[in-house]
Amino acid sequence: MIRSVVRGNGAALPRRIMKNADFEGMVETSDEWIVQRTGIRQRHVAADDETTASLGEAAARAALDSAGLTPADIDLIVLATSTPNNTFPATAVEIQNRLGMHHGFAFDMQAVCSGFVYAVATADLYIRGGLAKRVLVIGSETFSRILDWSDRSTCVLFGDGAGAVVLEAQEGMGGIADRGVLAASLRSDGVHKDKLFVDGGPSTTGTVGHLRMEGREVFKHAVGMITDVIEATFAQAGITADDLDWFVPHQANKRIIDASAKKLGIAEEKVVVTVDLHGNTSAASVPLALSVAVADGRIKKGDLVLLEAMGGGFTWGAVLLRW
Ligand code: ACO
Repeated sequence: MIRSVVRGNGAALPRRIMKNADFEGMVETSDEWIVQRTGIRQRHVAADDETTASLGEAAARAALDSAGLTPADIDLIVLATSTPNNTFPATAVEIQNRLGMHHGFAFDMQAVCSGFVYAVATADLYIRGGLAKRVLVIGSETFSRILDWSDRSTCVLFGDGAGAVVLEAQEGMGGIADRGVLAASLRSDGVHKDKLFVDGGPSTTGTVGHLRMEGREVFKHAVGMITDVIEATFAQAGITADDLDWFVPHQANKRIIDASAKKLGIAEEKVVVTVDLHGNTSAASVPLALSVAVADGRIKKGDLVLLEAMGGGFTWGAVLLRW
């Protein structure tokens, strides 16, 4: 059977790093509060000339380099983002143009922080359905543009960045030993809309709006939702937490990551944590975490890797793949 195998990956971060202490003169907060409640120590913040498209392009080029491919080899770009350069056209199409690609097709996917997990599952279906052979899956965000910088309960949490993988159609035997995407489980429930949303949009206010979050409410639901979708993915693949080599969760809050891993029985040393370095970069967080763990030699070819995310909507999901 056809499997969607990761052939390369890459990442890109804005030049400017903002430390927790940099907020101390802006809002009433402290490095100690931010580290204790979230695990975040710093985040990257985009300059005017750094956008979701430019960061996404840079991550895509890095992923192509690591795959030993060029844009000519790609037939689909799926970009997960909630901070597109423009309301339309899709920023994926802008990235396609920046890459000098005038063949194939590209589209954006909007599932907030779950965007990359949704995009990998979607790309896998395009590959297995025969519509694409090689897909660039990108998560790129500039959440700094939609933050209310006077709201301490949200502005300290988010950062900008991009990550990407190249998925390629390869023959597999159909079992759990195959490389590539092995199982996925996606969920959403709009009843939770008011707990995490942006208070503007083209069809309502005609403005971009700012991110609003009832953090405590999101926190309350996060662990249960994350563990449900991971257990569904384990059941699909016929595995348990012990079979995993790496758990690469969405990087929103260290406490949520720790509580989810504990509930699932995933050993601490198998959990990839980068929230301290990047903050919450929404759809970019999982591919950015992947890029760190691949670069430092933790994630290697053949490893069994579980991706997970939960975000606005609510949306949530998990993907199991063999690297
Ligand atoms: N500095 C200092 N104090 C603060 C700050 C800050 N930056 N922010 C809030 N506080 C205060 C609050 O005002 C509150 O004060 P009070 O007790 O006097 O009312 C106190 O700290 C505690 O606030 P809580 O909201 O209860 O703090 P909590 O421990 O829940 O941590 C946090 C807040 C970090 C936001 C946490 O709730 C969280 O991580 N929530 C989930 C976020 C998440 O996972 N989002 C999903 C993905 S994001 C996406 O999809 C876009």
